[in-house]
Amino acid sequence: MSKNDSKKDNEFDNLSHEYDGIREYDYPAPNWWQIIFYVSIIWGIGYWVYYTLYDGETLRHRLDRELVTIQREKMKEASNGPSESDMSALLSNPAAIASGKEVFTGKCLSCHGDHGQGLIGPNLTDNFWIHGKGTLTDIYTVVDKGVADKGMPPWGPILSAAELKNVVAFVKSLQGTHPANPKAPQGEEIK
Ligand code: HEC
Repeated sequence: MSKNDSKKDNEFDNLSHEYDGIREYDYPAPNWWQIIFYVSIIWGIGYWVYYTLYDGETLRHRLDRELVTIQREKMKEASNGPSESDMSALLSNPAAIASGKEVFTGKCLSCHGDHGQGLIGPNLTDNFWIHGKGTLTDIYTVVDKGVADKGMPPWGPILSAAELKNVVAFVKSLQGTHPANPKAPQGEEIK
């Protein structure tokens, strides 16, 4: 078959090879396929350059960064105790207050009274404070460390971190509850 004949046979046949009656046609892949093909090559080069040459941001990097942040927050909490805002969130969390009340009933009631009105220990419901100004972090510090020479035990080593924060939130929630038979104010009035 001549070259011209094969052209007539098929408009794509412009390669003109023929072996044992088998002709090679130049039949291009559809445009949509070629577009995807070339775009993925360009994408692949970009990908390789970004991640290999420029050490691009991967999920592993992001994870490492977040772990460092968590670690830092934990260390901060371990050295200074939780922040005011951290604990103030517990005030509106009924489960935390309930857990704090349970700790109070089990560990604090004998000295501070069943409603925090004070017994051996001071009244925790008034706005008089011996230690600090009655902020959540002030209460946390005294409950955590105790007052060795005045008979207030340190609770940091005894309670879990969550129990400690919860009982602090519970003590804070007692503010202004005016229980019966309050112990006389001790410390300074905080207005
Ligand atoms: C063995 C008795 C005893 C127990 C139990 C006890 N406390 Fe106290 N607590 C005291 C005494 C006494 C003081 C006063 C310390 C002082 O005079 O400096 C005090 C002080 C405090 C203060 C500081 C009050 C202020 O005016 O500054 C807080 C808050 C407090 N206790 C919370 C707690 C919590 C919460 C618990 C339970 C986890 C607890 N206490 C258990 C005896 C006790």
